[in-house]
Amino acid sequence: MAERDAAATVLEVPGGREAAARALEAVRRRTLAVTDVEEPELTAQHSPLMSPLVWDLAHIGQQEDLWLLRGGDSAAQGLLSCRVEQLYDAFEHPRASRVSLPLLGPDEARRYLADVRGRVVSGLERVPDDTAGALFPTHMVLQHEQQHVETMLATHQLRDGVPVLGSGTPLPPGRDLPHDAVLVPGGPFVLGVDGHDEPWSLDNERPAHVVDVPSFRIGRVPVTNAEWQRFVEAGGYAEPRWWSARGWEHRQQAGLERPLFWGADGTRRRFGHHEELVPDEPVQHVSWFEAEAYAAWAGARLPTEQEWEKACTWDPALGRRRRWPWGDSAWTPELANLGGEALRPAPVGAYAAGASAYGVEQMMGDVWEWTSSPFEPWPGFAPMLYAQYSAPFFGGDYRVLRGGSWAVGDGAVRPSFRNWDHPVRRQIFTGLRLAWDVDGADRPEGGA
Ligand code: AVJ
Ligand code: FE
Repeated sequence: MAERDAAATVLEVPGGREAAARALEAVRRRTLAVTDVEEPELTAQHSPLMSPLVWDLAHIGQQEDLWLLRGGDSAAQGLLSCRVEQLYDAFEHPRASRVSLPLLGPDEARRYLADVRGRVVSGLERVPDDTAGALFPTHMVLQHEQQHVETMLATHQLRDGVPVLGSGTPLPPGRDLPHDAVLVPGGPFVLGVDGHDEPWSLDNERPAHVVDVPSFRIGRVPVTNAEWQRFVEAGGYAEPRWWSARGWEHRQQAGLERPLFWGADGTRRRFGHHEELVPDEPVQHVSWFEAEAYAAWAGARLPTEQEWEKACTWDPALGRRRRWPWGDSAWTPELANLGGEALRPAPVGAYAAGASAYGVEQMMGDVWEWTSSPFEPWPGFAPMLYAQYSAPFFGGDYRVLRGGSWAVGDGAVRPSFRNWDHPVRRQIFTGLRLAWDVDGADRPEGGA
């Protein structure tokens, strides 16, 4: 229903189809950049957790072909034969098996992408400019491509061998700031969004609804490498008391001793570079089970996603949501580390201007933040055009991640954006931020 609302609402869409066309071009430059490597790197399986890069490449085109050239009608003939097209159905073929499929080669895949895109861009000229609903499929496909750029970066990070992506663009320096707990007083706030306010929000972010959140505290900044190193040195990975039963079983079975890509000697591997750990950079490549254990060791817990979203987006003085933690103005590189070109998180304190109304920093970008929440629909959920995007995953063994990482494009993350993954996963760019209960303050002060 949220979808129909968006279609019916005439609103000012900033830039309309011009902006959409520019954004499509920008993400395509990223797709081509991360796949601008030798053919064997594209066709190899770098990890059983990931597809060969050449699969992601053609799958990006297949989704664009399906949603934008055929309106989602999979029975209609696309630009590929049915036999080839079904190779790119993510539900049909698990990631580990994709390498043995007769996939399009890199050049064929690039030609297919260009062919689809040419038709999409011509078609865009006929899309009405004044309704968000008409441009929603374009933005949905745009976000899908941005998501796969991040997935391909995770594949690159798992790849062995000499660096092929460079070492990343410069980031602002960190600053000295307290790694303290910020109070978010209890009371109602608006969780989630509607198409009317966030026309490109996906189905699982909708609808907006009021939720009463008891007082809590949340970390001003994400947990850093130096902090995580202290957990390792304190024997945190050897002490079952910090771990849940499931978490400890996994830690034993997988032999976890430190975050993925860390060496035993205070170094890490990052896109083929072997380097010293940067102490004040947010930790990444930790699983939900590790995040849960770290939080217990630190005398804290993970935030719920309701708490996370309130700390990120609520403006208590005005009693309304901000579009971004810093206000309603669009993202700029001074506000958050997004876009994927840095190839790493920024040190804590790098984005004073990006703070939320409560003073919480670096909620957008840098690292995805694990929350304690399982992935469930908001009340009143209605699937979007791509009905299989969220619904098959509700109620599964997933935990919600918030805020986006350095690898995310700015069009594919918002304060309401919900990502999810299995609690054992850590090849994605995941970190955490701590939260604490506020004793005896679970009734909002002066609240109804
Ligand atoms: C939202 C990141 C969990 O990669 O499984 C890409 C995004 N869905 N193509 C995923 C997605 C279909 C999805 N996540
Ligand atoms: Fe996909």
